[in-house]
Amino acid sequence: MALLEEHRRFFAQLVVRGAGSSDSRLVAAFSQIAREDFLEAGPWWVCAGEGYLPTPDADPRWLYQDVLVGLDPQNHINNGQPSLHAQCLAAAAPREADSVIHVGAGAGYYSAILAHLVGPTGNVLAFERELALAKKAAATLKRWPNVELRAQCAVTQGSDDTALPPADVIYVNAGVAELPAPWLDALKPGGRLVLPLTPDDGYGLLLQITRTGTGRFSAWGLGRAGFTPCVGTRDTCASRSLAHALGVETWREIRSLVRGDNPDASAWCHGRGWWLSRSPPEP
Ligand SMILES: C[S@@+](CC[C@H](N)C(=O)[O-])C[C@H]1O[C@@H](n2cnc3c(N)ncnc32)[C@H](O)[C@@H]1O
Repeated sequence: MALLEEHRRFFAQLVVRGAGSSDSRLVAAFSQIAREDFLEAGPWWVCAGEGYLPTPDADPRWLYQDVLVGLDPQNHINNGQPSLHAQCLAAAAPREADSVIHVGAGAGYYSAILAHLVGPTGNVLAFERELALAKKAAATLKRWPNVELRAQCAVTQGSDDTALPPADVIYVNAGVAELPAPWLDALKPGGRLVLPLTPDDGYGLLLQITRTGTGRFSAWGLGRAGFTPCVGTRDTCASRSLAHALGVETWREIRSLVRGDNPDASAWCHGRGWWLSRSPPEP
């Protein structure tokens, strides 16, 4: 049988290539971060169809497949699918020395991957609102001094007087309906926000938003995905607008995010104070 490290190296190539990326830094990050360190002791529950399947034993090699693993299966909170995250991380493109905000850290596995990608001169500010998960994440992430784990909501955090710090990357791992304005405010020029925009029911849309100038944002759909809800962002109107827009497969036409409350004829869907447009951002 191959060594665990060999499994991890193969898994890293599999999930990064599976995501359509050839980024060797991403392969190195997935090769070097041990997934089992961020989970309770095995056996583990892996997602299969609508439910979960237990791994036959506690051998960590079971974890090096492109599977979701239950963190809190009763509440459908999972350690996300590696190839989906590889695709999102490739779109977020964290660089050496970048400042990253991670929303929905869970037990911290993808916070560690982000920390590896930005290196010791970069930093990751990670939010997790479930206390038990946040505690586990904080304990494991002690090994990464460039990560700060806050056991709190990432939505209310940005709207009080302790505003979010400027970020090169905001990486969101929970389904958003209403886009929080403080997240857009925190993006540096050239900064990238990757998030799942999800309706109340069914699959949503992964989006990559880049600040292209003061008040200007490009936006691109990356693909469809399901995520647990991001608490504090759920909104019936925004969810309805998104569900309506997703009813026809036109998300590939999205070109920009516009801040404001008067969507024009190019609008694809809208929330409070923002809309996605089929027109490119103004130069
Ligand atoms: C799909 S899980 C992903 C966990 C982790 N990224 C992983 O893949 O292992 C989403 C996480 O987002 C957290 N979450 C939801 N809303 C949040 C919020 N407003 N602020 C911080 N965390 C939130 C949930 O508690 C949950 O742990």
